[in-house]
Amino acid sequence: MTTLLQDVYRLADFVDTFALGHYARVLSATDRRTGKAVAFKVLRTEHLSPDGDMRWEYRAFPSEADLLSRLAASPSIVKLLDCGYLESTEEAPTDGQLVSFGTQVKAFAQAAPEHAEKGWRPYLALEDLPRANNLLYLMKPNQPGTRWRLPTEEGIALAMQFAQFLQLAHAQRVVYLDHKLEHVYWDGARLQIIDLNSSRLLAGQADDANQFRADLRSLCVGILYPAFTGISAINGALRAQPSSMSEVEARYQSVADLDFGVEPSLSPALQDLLQRGARQQFATVGEFMSALQQVAALHGWDAPETDNTPARRQARDQMRAALRKLRQGQDALRDARDLLRDAAIMDDISPDLEAELRRLVKAANQMLGNRVIP
Ligand SMILES: Nc1ncnc2c1ncn2[C@@H]1O[C@H](COP(=O)(O)OP(=O)(O)O)[C@@H](O)[C@H]1O
Ligand SMILES: [Mg+2]
Repeated sequence: MTTLLQDVYRLADFVDTFALGHYARVLSATDRRTGKAVAFKVLRTEHLSPDGDMRWEYRAFPSEADLLSRLAASPSIVKLLDCGYLESTEEAPTDGQLVSFGTQVKAFAQAAPEHAEKGWRPYLALEDLPRANNLLYLMKPNQPGTRWRLPTEEGIALAMQFAQFLQLAHAQRVVYLDHKLEHVYWDGARLQIIDLNSSRLLAGQADDANQFRADLRSLCVGILYPAFTGISAINGALRAQPSSMSEVEARYQSVADLDFGVEPSLSPALQDLLQRGARQQFATVGEFMSALQQVAALHGWDAPETDNTPARRQARDQMRAALRKLRQGQDALRDARDLLRDAAIMDDISPDLEAELRRLVKAANQMLGNRVIP
């Protein structure tokens, strides 16, 4: 249905500035029809072609919508709420017409050539995920020399959920491919994954097995290694990596050896698991999952064919309760810091009060700099 953009969406700020993507700009928005907040992902204007041809960046939108709907049964994939095309060629669109297909992804794909010819851009409206849960945002240090890693308990839980997502994806011959921290949201208990526009539906050919293997390598090298060490396996320092299609495929190919020198305390069994992943020794998600379960058993998890002792189980329960409390503590610390920071810039306060507020902000920031969980 064609309407005016303003009748359907109220667009606000860009939410992608800390981790720009190659294909899209992403804004926070309100869907006026439902009143709900959404993340509004729209093709970058530079990928429009003057002759109305569809570049592969353009085609990536219908492809992403299709894959999101195929994998919607996974609790770990971001929800697609709406898709369509819009007329505006402003980087942050403010007006012009819009056509919305809801979640009718086939109709959205069929309408692509016609809208490309008119110079309209595709968009996806997605479930809005909190930036404070984005793993790159959380783990990127704000000063050199600092580094955070996920607690092993949480990292194992994240790895299990990611493996379950890949199991569902691979069963439908979909490979994720674009494994990196900025695509991962984690709140301590639940994984959510974004960005399927570099992902692919395989054709069912002989090479598919290699693609599944490589997808598992990318999980180990591109997500689990930085989550457990706080550094990137390629560049050392964590930073956003906007990538085109060919760059995504090549990204982790040359990494066969993972260096755990910065994090010698990481469980040897976990180091070995990631190293085997980096060497592409897992052919299927099932193989990876059973190896992961054995590692998890060492950390007090119940796993098939391993004996958990009551003491281990109890110690793990207590650790989980403690991790929840640490997270609450860190959240409270951030809230306190924000209150102090906002008070320090109020007009008409005395220099004495301002100085004290600033001292407290600095001390709270130092504590946050030494936090236990990213
Ligand atoms: N559903 C979402 N909720 C909140 N932020 C999002 C969402 N989707 C994307 N973003 C933000 O926008 C950035 C770019 O989005 P992404 O889907 O990776 O685009 P691209 O396909 O161009 O790589 C992400 O790194 C993230 O910071
Ligand atoms: Mg991306």
